Order: sequence, then structure tokens, then C-alpha cells
Amino acid sequence: MIIYDDIINVGVSDKTVSVFEGQYKVNGMAYNSYLIKDEKTAVLDTVDFRYGKEWLENIKMAGVNPDYLIITHMEPDHSSNIALFMREFPAAKIVANAKAFAMIKNFFGADFSDRKTEVKDGEELSLGKTQLQFIAAPMVHWPEVQMVYDKTDKILFSADAFGRFGTGEKSKDWAQEARRYYIGIVGKYGVQVQSVLKKTAALDIQAIYPLHGEILTENLEYYINLYNTWSSYAPEEKGTAIIYTSVYGNTEKAVFALSDEILAITGKRPQIFNLSVCDMAEGVAAAFKYSNVVLATTTYNADIFPWMHDFIVRLKERNFQNRKIGFIENGSWAPTAAKVMAGLLEGCKNLTFCANNVKILSAMTDTNINEIKALAKEITE
Ligand code: FEO
Repeated sequence: MIIYDDIINVGVSDKTVSVFEGQYKVNGMAYNSYLIKDEKTAVLDTVDFRYGKEWLENIKMAGVNPDYLIITHMEPDHSSNIALFMREFPAAKIVANAKAFAMIKNFFGADFSDRKTEVKDGEELSLGKTQLQFIAAPMVHWPEVQMVYDKTDKILFSADAFGRFGTGEKSKDWAQEARRYYIGIVGKYGVQVQSVLKKTAALDIQAIYPLHGEILTENLEYYINLYNTWSSYAPEEKGTAIIYTSVYGNTEKAVFALSDEILAITGKRPQIFNLSVCDMAEGVAAAFKYSNVVLATTTYNADIFPWMHDFIVRLKERNFQNRKIGFIENGSWAPTAAKVMAGLLEGCKNLTFCANNVKILSAMTDTNINEIKALAKEITE
């Protein structure tokens, strides 16, 4: 796919992968790799190990011998074919930072010391007309990550940032899969993302070329603002997500009743996720999207139902904060789920816990209906 005359995406689109990184359900995945043609030719990153041959063919179709392989990120979905590239293009050099070279040695048993150009934050590389500047972006999403700013074409090669799940085709709702991708994969590192956003805010950026998903060429403020919201842990939207587990359907009845009450108050139905059947990463993304989150589960083995336990751990790992929280608990003889959930969330910053929670002792009662009304009122206030 030719984007600018002299910049080609030689990456691949994997239409078969259904689980990415061993946990994220996807309908395919794009591994972008960009070739910049100039007096010198540079290729940015490689692709997933299954697509090395196809990637090399794409490079060869460009009709040039690359002079440089620039590494922006060493996670194997982008770095797996470094040794293959070095064998195929024996005159080429690797351009990377010190942390990436250490990882190259760990992954490939060699750091190609006679063919390496080590770069630091702010340094530049000239390809001829094209002047590239390296921007350290540690922990977005690994410590060695760097972005590359093409000062000539005003393009930010953003590594994992601004990527999304999917095969790379343009989507009407970019945010849906970009949010699930960002919160799932980079969500823990909001502080580091904020710091890179501050650095890139000083640049004149006309296009963003990420390692996953589509190239962004218009309305860049929209994407950058979303990244600013996500990385500052601010709710993206006023509203409620209800995340639940239900063993025999009684907790679920309470969830639906709460949803109806919230709809009646706000005119907007909450997003509801049943952790036994949904993609957990969707529930995690929704908890970060909305201002209010209700967690509903049962007491189980003197703890809580395992999917809810796992879910809350995932929230906490990603620095979940700044939200209003309500609980629905169910327990037939010793209900402790609300207490356990609150305990698991301990340490999360700036959570406001509702006073009106719902305690079900096996099946819903009129008392529970009143509790649900009170919770709906409090959480939407
Ligand atoms: Fe797409 Fe962090 O790798």
C-alpha cells in the first residue's frame, strides 16, 4: 500500500489470528512495517514471525536494497524477523537504542555489533531529503520503545501507540478497538504515555503511522485527545458499565433491574458485561471508558467468583482510578463479596464507593428492589 510516494507499508495483515498476545480476542491483526525510500532506504521494524517471508517479498517489491533497519519496539510481533533481515541484506545496519540492542542479543544471541548504529533520544538520522529524529518512549509499551519523527514529511512513526486490534482497514469506529487495545496493552503506563504526549505536542504532526491498525492522516486531534484522556485515567464518557458474574441467574436479575432503573433515570442504558461469556478485555475497556462502574458477583469459596477476581486484578494492574463504584453481592449463607471486592480495589486512587449497595441472600426480594433503586439513584448522581 503506497501512502506517500516514498513511504510504503511493507507490513502484513494477518487475517487468521483470533487471539493476540495469548489473551486478546481479535478478528485479525495488522503488523505494519514502513519502508522509506530516499538516497538511503530505511525499513522500520519487522513483523510477526509467521510472516517473515511475505514481509521480505514486500520489501523486495519496492525495488531497493535497504540500508537501515530501524527498531522502534522489540516485542516479537515487530522484531521476530531481525536476524532474517540481516541475513537477507548483508550490507544493512540496525539502528536502535541501547536497550533494544540488549534485547536483540537476548532474542537472537547476537547484537550485530559490527553492523549497529546506536541512537539516543533526540538524535537524528539523515536518509537524504528525509531527516528522522528519534523520540524515546519508554514503557509505551516496553522500556526500549522509541518513536521516530520524520521532520521532512511531518510523520510520527508511533510504535505501538495509536494502534488498534484488527487487520488495518479503516474503521468507522476507530476508538472501539483502539481503546480495548490501549487499555489492555499499555493501560498501566499512563504516566509514561503522558510524558511522550508532552514531547510530541511540540511537533508539527501531519500523519501518525502506528505499528498496528490504520494510518491516521486526518483529524489527528481526535486521536491525540483520546490518548490524553485514556492515559490520564479520566472517564471518557459519563455513564455506567455493569460487570457481573451470575451462577444461577439471581445476580443477573439484579443487574438487569439496575440497568432498567439507570435507564429510567438517565435515558441511557448501561453497558453490561457477563464475565462468564464476554471477552474480559471488553469489560476492562468499558470500566475505563465510563465514569461509573457497578460490579456484581457471588460469594464463592469464601472469596468471590473467579472471573470477577481476575477482572478486578486486571483493573488494578492497569491503575484503575477516578471512578464511582457500586456493588451488588449475592451469598446464600455468608455473603462477603462486596467486602472482598472493595478489598481487592484497595490502593486504587480516587475511587468513590456508593453507600447504597445491594445484598442478595440467594434470590431477589422487595428489599433488594429498593436497594437497587437507591444504588441507581446514587451512582447516577
Ligand atoms: Fe505490538 Fe508491544 O507490541
